[in-house]
Amino acid sequence: MCGIVGYIGTRPASDILMEGLQKLEYRGYDSAGLATVLEGELECVRAKGKLQNLADKLAGMENPARLGIGHTRWATHGKPEEYNAHPHTDTHRRIAVVQNGIVENYRELRETLKAKGHEFRSDTDTEVIPHLIAENMKQLSAADSIEDNPFFEAVRISVNQLEGAFALAVINADYPDDLIVVRQQAPLIIGFGQGEFFCASDTPAIVPHTRAVLPLENGELAKLTPLGVEVYTFAGDRLKKRPFSLNWNPIMVEKQGFKHFMLKEIYEQPGVVRTCVETYLDTTWSSDRDTNPVTLGLADDLFTDLEHVQIVACGTSWHASLVGKYLIEQLAGIPTMVQYASEFRYSPSPLTRHTLTIGVTQSGETADTLAALEMEQKRRQATEDLALAPRMLGITNRPESSLARLVPHIIDTHAGIEIGVAATKTFIAQVMAFYFLALDLAYRRQTLKPERIEQIIEELRQMPGQIEAVLESQERYIEELAHNFSETQDFIFLGRGINFPIALEGALKLKEISYIHAEGYPAGEMKHGPIALLDAKVPVVAIAMPGTVYDKVLSNAQEAKARDAQLIGVVPLNDEEAEFTFNSLLPVPPVDELLSPILTVIPLQLLAYHIAARRGLDVDQPRNLAKSVTVE
Ligand code: F6R
Repeated sequence: MCGIVGYIGTRPASDILMEGLQKLEYRGYDSAGLATVLEGELECVRAKGKLQNLADKLAGMENPARLGIGHTRWATHGKPEEYNAHPHTDTHRRIAVVQNGIVENYRELRETLKAKGHEFRSDTDTEVIPHLIAENMKQLSAADSIEDNPFFEAVRISVNQLEGAFALAVINADYPDDLIVVRQQAPLIIGFGQGEFFCASDTPAIVPHTRAVLPLENGELAKLTPLGVEVYTFAGDRLKKRPFSLNWNPIMVEKQGFKHFMLKEIYEQPGVVRTCVETYLDTTWSSDRDTNPVTLGLADDLFTDLEHVQIVACGTSWHASLVGKYLIEQLAGIPTMVQYASEFRYSPSPLTRHTLTIGVTQSGETADTLAALEMEQKRRQATEDLALAPRMLGITNRPESSLARLVPHIIDTHAGIEIGVAATKTFIAQVMAFYFLALDLAYRRQTLKPERIEQIIEELRQMPGQIEAVLESQERYIEELAHNFSETQDFIFLGRGINFPIALEGALKLKEISYIHAEGYPAGEMKHGPIALLDAKVPVVAIAMPGTVYDKVLSNAQEAKARDAQLIGVVPLNDEEAEFTFNSLLPVPPVDELLSPILTVIPLQLLAYHIAARRGLDVDQPRNLAKSVTVE
């Protein structure tokens, strides 16, 4: 969703804000804007479209202001036009606000404020905020303030009148030493420099300047001045908070010679998998050992008498969770349910006993996933029955995120931050986390023979090299193959068993970055409807890896071929049967079916990438999408 940044200090704010917005552009790119305070005046510059349009407008403008806020927008209320771009200001253009989130009661507030003479200039929900602050300031006398600051107090009063989920940064032409920030169900991080302070929706905008950060919690607001940071609750109580040091390298958010972040992140996957294996597996483990080969470091009581697992996630993380369900059920024998977080939060399944609830999210900020977990935690805490007590676990690559602060246990997937909007390396890392969790459970419950565990560990160790082999051998060919599909309108992806979620993921990757309609199906379901779509214009990608469903998938592929579909197979290398069946082959090293998703997803990521790049599309920032979905 939208990205917000803010700066107060000794350097020209607008350069720092623009650099920050560039790092946050993955959160939204419908419009962008900056507001600064200089010599008692507010200067606001906004532009429709990508950040570059704002940069073009600012070119040649000298602006030495040392206080400012910026925004990159993912439109919710109001079209992506300049007049709807943030920052928004009050009638007299003294107060400027940037928001990430949605103010749900904006219509009634707008009517009330209009009746009091406030002039509105946009269709957004955000615009009510500067007007509301201005109105509240009018009502205040100096004595009414939090620590005698009427501006800060007016912001505090105003946020108590807003309903919804929002993060804000607010400045006021009459308060050149104050940058006020607010968090309510949307991320907001404060960065501590030397005589300068930053705020942003996400850490990439801050790490080039400082790694000392403080994430605000829901219901908190803070005042950043050149002298320091004061944090309060919405009730006006002062809090004592200290920043912590982020273990981050700013180079992680550069393209490093790749044309797109997505391609760079696809190529980072061998390294990510290697780190996961080295971190969470005892790779010297052998079947004669009586120690747990998995080193997730999770508390034993998460697993005691475990009867059910339930997983909540969205999008690609939901697909990773489906692989997780397969692994936990097949390796550890525990019934596992995977739910869309957006559905679960309003129609939760009846409570089950001794249940581990897992939230999976790469950003760690997805509003639906956080809300589903919070709801589950609360409803379980409300029962007296110990068997129903919450056992909450998060899987994420962002250990500093809201998810990590919401649930008591985390598996950090070590994928680092992902910038390309289409998830690739974070998906593979989530899938790896599920291998470790399933093996851990299988070991504890003795559902697998030690020899089988040893075999799986050995295969997992081979995975980084195998992914490298797929990338090396396939990318050129897939780039050429992509030429055939630049005009294609529909694709079908088929898979079965553990590769069904990979078919879903292949279809999602293609549709989100190439805008080609794509459907993923369990291969056996095709004849129950989707087969009607097939003709020579609809390519079918089938994942057929040796194992329990190999012959079945090949038969399903033949059924598609009989309807003139062009068949592309993700198949084992040097497999005669596959060579006979498919028109085009995307071979991967032959591996145990159980491990195959780690390899089969790679050519599908490359296929989506190259088709989108061939169509000349903005791969890293596809239309209408955002990397971090912090609204419902
Ligand atoms: C697709 C994609 C999205 C996310 C979804 C959930 O490539 O990235 O579908 O998977 O928005 O996001 P997280 O994992 O941050 O909760």
